[in-house]
Amino acid sequence: MCAKKVTIREVAKRAGVSIATVSQILNGKAMNFNPLTVQKVQAARDELGYKADHLARQMVGKQSKTIGILVPEITNSFFSTLVKGIEEELLRSGYISMLCNGGFNGAKEEKALLELAKRGVDGFIIASPSISDEVLKEVLQIKKRPVIVLDQKTFSERSDEVTTDDFNGGLLAARYLKKMGHTKVAVIVPDLATVNIMYRLQGFLVEFPQALQIKTELSKSGGQAVVAELLEQNIEAVFALSDELAFGIYLGMRQKNKSIPNDLSVIGYDDVEMCRYVTPALTTVAQPIYELGKQAADLMIKRLASPNSPYVKRVLPVKLVIRSSVEVKI
Ligand code: RIB
Repeated sequence: MCAKKVTIREVAKRAGVSIATVSQILNGKAMNFNPLTVQKVQAARDELGYKADHLARQMVGKQSKTIGILVPEITNSFFSTLVKGIEEELLRSGYISMLCNGGFNGAKEEKALLELAKRGVDGFIIASPSISDEVLKEVLQIKKRPVIVLDQKTFSERSDEVTTDDFNGGLLAARYLKKMGHTKVAVIVPDLATVNIMYRLQGFLVEFPQALQIKTELSKSGGQAVVAELLEQNIEAVFALSDELAFGIYLGMRQKNKSIPNDLSVIGYDDVEMCRYVTPALTTVAQPIYELGKQAADLMIKRLASPNSPYVKRVLPVKLVIRSSVEVKI
C-alpha cells in the first residue's frame, strides 16, 4: 500500500505558517521571506518528506480556459443564481468554471483557493468573505492570476469589482415601511455582517435611526430564531437583510400561529425566486443577481484580455418589488 501523500497543509502546520507562504518559499520565492521562516518551512518539508505536485505546476504555465469560483453557501439560492450568471457568461467566451463552496470558513476557503491555483485556473471570481486579503495577496503573487471580487468579498485595491447599491437598497426598504405607516420597526443584523450587508443597514437607519437591531445568523434558522423577540417587543414591521432571513421569520411566525402581514409586516432583500412562491408573497429589495454574476464574468474576460488596464469598479442598481408581506398601518 503506498504511503499517504504529504500535503502542503501539513507542511504549513508543522512550520507554523500559512499554506500560501509555504507555496511561495518552495516555488522559488524564498528571498521574499525572513531566513528563519524559510528554514522552518524547509525543515518541515524535509521532516515530512513533502513532494510538490509537479504535474499540476506544469499545468500552471499554460492557459487552462478554466476560472475558479468561490462562494460562501451554494445551497442559498442567491449564490446558485449568481453562479449561473457567472458560468453562462464565461461559457460564451469559451471558459469553463470550477466551483468551490467556502462555507464561511477561512481555512476551507484558503485551501480551496490553493487547490484551484494548483489546477492552473486562469483566474478567480470570489464572493466569499472569509479569505483574508493577506492570503489572497500571497496566492496572487505566486500565481499571477487575476481575481474579480463581488458581493461579500472586497479587495478593490488589487482587483476589479462589481457590487450592487446596498446603501440605497436599505434606504428603499425603510422609505417603503415609513410610507406604509410603520413606526415600531426592527432590522435583523447578521452576526458576521459583511461590508455589503452593513451598507444596507446604514441605508435603513437613515430613516429609522431608532430601529430595534436584532443580531442572528445569516440563515433561515437565524430568521426563525428572532420571532419571539419581535413579538415580545410588539414590532410592527421588520427588515430582514436577506430573503433567507425573511423565510425563517415566516416559519417562526407560523409556529407561533401568528400571521404575516397582520401581526408582523416583513420585507426581505435579494428577490430570489422563492419570494413569489411563499404566502404571502414577499415584498423585497431586488438585487440583479444573475446580472451580477454575468458582470463578474465579463470583468474577468476583459481582464484576461487586457491584464494591465486600470482596475474597474461597477455598481449595479437595486429596486423595490412590492408584493403582499407588508400591510398599511392605519
Ligand atoms: O442570502 C445571501 C445574502 O448574502 C445576499 O443578500 C447576498 O448579497 C449575500 O451577501
